[in-house]
Amino acid sequence: MNTIRDRFPFFSHNPHVVYLDSAATTLKADVALQALNEYYTSYSVNIHRGMYPLAQKADLAYHASRKKIAHFLNAQTPDEIVFTKGATEGLNLLASSLGQSLINPERGVLTSVIEHHANFVPWQQIAKKHNAPFQVALINPLTMTVREICDEFEKNITQDTAILALTHISNVTGTVLPIQEIAHRARQINPHIIIVLDMCQSVQHMSIDVQQLDIDFAVFSGHKCFGPTGIGVLYGKKSRLDNLLPYQFGGDMIYEVGLSQSSFAEAPSKFEAGTPPIAQAISLASALEFVQEIISSDCHNNLKDLRAYCVKQFEKLFPNDVVVHQSKHLDSCAIVCFTVNRCHPHDVAHMLGEQNICIRAGHHCAQPLHKHLNIPSSCRVSLSVYNTTDDIDNLMQGITRVITQLS
Ligand SMILES: Cc1ncc(COP(=O)(O)O)c(C=O)c1O
Repeated sequence: MNTIRDRFPFFSHNPHVVYLDSAATTLKADVALQALNEYYTSYSVNIHRGMYPLAQKADLAYHASRKKIAHFLNAQTPDEIVFTKGATEGLNLLASSLGQSLINPERGVLTSVIEHHANFVPWQQIAKKHNAPFQVALINPLTMTVREICDEFEKNITQDTAILALTHISNVTGTVLPIQEIAHRARQINPHIIIVLDMCQSVQHMSIDVQQLDIDFAVFSGHKCFGPTGIGVLYGKKSRLDNLLPYQFGGDMIYEVGLSQSSFAEAPSKFEAGTPPIAQAISLASALEFVQEIISSDCHNNLKDLRAYCVKQFEKLFPNDVVVHQSKHLDSCAIVCFTVNRCHPHDVAHMLGEQNICIRAGHHCAQPLHKHLNIPSSCRVSLSVYNTTDDIDNLMQGITRVITQLS
């Protein structure tokens, strides 16, 4: 019988690898690889330039991909989808362009202490550049309730908060933030606030409806949702994108170029200077079709159960040696963050690696969060649809060996 694992060619090359690092990057789905391969082998020509049939085929595939992604996110139109090279580029684009037009010494940015550095440092730096206030909501993703989290954001929002940038799911603890509630309360205080959502850890796990979430902008990376590296999406409400300045200049993003002045194309083209990642964009649409397929299947309940099994096994087998850092009140999605007493997370990950078990250790690009929680660093198991209870059992055996050797 075919299983979901059969959809990932990685496993036929690496049958003994226990892959538990999907928050860093997921494995690649067969349909995404096929789309990539088909473009590169049968119609690998540039878009927006050629008059010949193959160029039109590439054009059509690129634009069909934008349309499919708009549909996936429930955006109002494909023009609300900008292709970037990843979430980090999308966030830098926003920080740079919104920063230029919206922030100043009176009006600033609010983010949270749990953000990935990609949704923290660009805002911190742009605020510095414009001498603007940079505030950080000190939420605790382990101990706070929905209400306390909303209150903490609310406490920091005023009429002068130009931008609120926050994550959907913590890449360290897996805590799912109550985005709709936070957005609702933010807009009650300040109807003009611009809300930017980092969806890097949510896109592969849940149906996303950007209209229902009521956000202005959102970003994610293709490689974290079964697609290729080198591609990301920046969603923006059409009216917001229309008002945003371009971030890079060059071919394809212009309307007219003169010797002293140039005018620019409409969104999304004005944000896609140069030859875009064509193959990756086409492949990403196939990857998201796969996501849609698994979201509508049982796989997601299985993943919830698998996460619960992992936590239960940690608690049962290592009650005195392992501490699981998870939210007491909010849902946690696909990630189990833990530390092993008396063992450095790097040593744990290294020793598991020697047993073909791939987990992540360190600060996971979230130093402010680790400092806030007073944990220097942590180990992270991140699950996806291809993981099984065998993977968790192997992990537990691996941890037993680590504890025996290290403590
Ligand atoms: C929550 C979150 N935001 C942003 C990023 C940055 O993504 P990328 O490195 O693909 O640009 C990551 C990557 O781990 C992430 O987990």
